[in-house]
Amino acid sequence: MNFEYILKCVEDTKNMAKDIAPFIKNNIIFLNGEIGAGKTTFTKYLVEIYGLNDEVCSPTFSLENRYNTKNGLIIHFDLYRIKNEEELDMIGFYDTLKEDATILIEWADKFNIEKYIKNYKIISFKIHDSNIRYVTIK
Ligand SMILES: Nc1ncnc2c1ncn2[C@@H]1O[C@H](COP(=O)(O)OP(=O)(O)O)[C@@H](O)[C@H]1O
Ligand SMILES: [Mg+2]
Repeated sequence: MNFEYILKCVEDTKNMAKDIAPFIKNNIIFLNGEIGAGKTTFTKYLVEIYGLNDEVCSPTFSLENRYNTKNGLIIHFDLYRIKNEEELDMIGFYDTLKEDATILIEWADKFNIEKYIKNYKIISFKIHDSNIRYVTIK
């Protein structure tokens, strides 16, 4: 699976989420990209597309949010405030990775977590001009 998207507005993010939703179900997905690149926005639409009309908040402070959708559990992590791998272990991160769920991880590239995971996908967001975002999915 290799996709590329150019997003000009949040509607484009929603359409991209619709497109790839079937391919990423029950996978571990790294959401990479700078602050404001659109990682949480993507998660918000995926929760909606999987059939839950809950408000999606950034887990920057809660670290982990869970959504019980019609298409299974979505677990949303934000590792921005996590300092090191010991701290990751302390919040139960590695145990959570074994759960049967669609697991979305913002700032996954801060750590070397791919060495603990066999299968994962990477969605990279890059802000180009003010409102143009490039996305690659691998
Ligand atoms: N495709 C897009 N087009 C325009 N604005 C966007 C897009 N995606 C996100 N945004 C806006 O950018 C801001 C930050 O988005 P957010 O998803 O919180 O970023 P991140 O989680 O990567 O820090 C929000 O105000 C959001 O509405
Ligand atoms: Mg975010």
